[in-house]
Amino acid sequence: MSRAVVVVGGAGAIGRVVCAVLAEAGMAVTVADLRGADEVRTGLPGGPHASLSLDVTDRDAVVAALGPGGTAAGASALVYAAGSNYTGPVSTTDWDAYDRVMNINLRGAFHVGQALSLDLAASPREFSAVFLSSTAGLRGESGASVYAASKFGLIGFVECLAAEIATFGARANAVCPGNVDSPMLRTLAEQVAVRRGDTTEAVLTEFAGATSFDRLIAIREVADVIAYLAGPRSTGMSGQSVVVDGPPL
Ligand SMILES: NC(=O)c1ccc[n+]([C@@H]2O[C@H](COP(=O)([O-])OP(=O)(O)OC[C@H]3O[C@@H](n4cnc5c(N)ncnc54)[C@H](O)[C@@H]3O)[C@@H](O)[C@H]2O)c1
Repeated sequence: MSRAVVVVGGAGAIGRVVCAVLAEAGMAVTVADLRGADEVRTGLPGGPHASLSLDVTDRDAVVAALGPGGTAAGASALVYAAGSNYTGPVSTTDWDAYDRVMNINLRGAFHVGQALSLDLAASPREFSAVFLSSTAGLRGESGASVYAASKFGLIGFVECLAAEIATFGARANAVCPGNVDSPMLRTLAEQVAVRRGDTTEAVLTEFAGATSFDRLIAIREVADVIAYLAGPRSTGMSGQSVVVDGPPL
C-alpha cells in the first residue's frame, strides 16, 4: 500500500511542489488548503489523491479532518506548508497583520499538532510531521519581528510535539528554508523596497547575496528535503530543524 501524506497549505508555491514531489515518489497525497486544493490534486501524477478545503485557524475543522476518525486521519505523514508573512518595524506593528500571521503560522500548527496527537494516541504508528519554519525562525533581523516570532515559536512547538509523540512511534521536524525564489519572497522584496525607497530588483539581489551561494533557493530544493523527512528513510530524525540554505558569506 502506498504511503498516504497530507499537505496542509498544499496549494501554495512551496506546498504544490511538495505535493508533486511526493506524488512522483508514489505517495497518495491529500492536498489541504483554504482554496485551490482541487486544482492541485487534478494535476498530480499517480494516485489515488484527494483534496480538502481546510482553514487551519478553525480548530474544530482541523480536528474533524485530521483527528481520530477524520476525513484525512490515518496518514503516514503530514507537511504543514501553510503560512503568511508580514514585514515592518516593531514601532509600527500592524496588529491585524500580527494576528493573521500568528494565527496561521503558529496557532494553526498547534491545531494540526493537537489533531495529530489525538489521532496518533488512538492509532499509534510510524508517522512523520514536517513543519515549514524559516531561517527567520533561527535568527531575527530588522523588520521581521512578527514573522520571526511566529517561526521561532514554531520551532519550539515542533521540539515539544516531537517529544510528546515519540511514544507513538511518530516524529516531527521543522524545515528552515532561506530566501526561496517564490511569490512570497517577491512580495516581501516589494514591501522592503517601498520602505527603503529602493527597487524591488535591488532588494531581491541583496536577498540572493545573503549566502555564499549568491542565489535564491529553488522551491524544488526545499521540497526534496521535505520529501526525505516525510518519508520512511529518515526515521532517525525527530525534533530537528533542518536548514535549506547556502553557507555563510
Ligand atoms: N517563500 C519563501 O521564501 C519562504 C522561505 C522560508 C519559509 N517559508 C515558509 O514556507 C511556507 C510556504 O510558503 P510559500 O512560499 O509556499 O507561501 P504561499 O503564500 O505561496 O503559500 C501559503 C499557503 O498557505 C495557505 N493558507 C494561508 N492561510 C491558510 C489557512 N488559514 N488555512 C489553510 N491554508 C492557508 C495559502 O492559501 C497558501 O496556499 C510558509 O510557512 C512560509 O512562511 C517560505
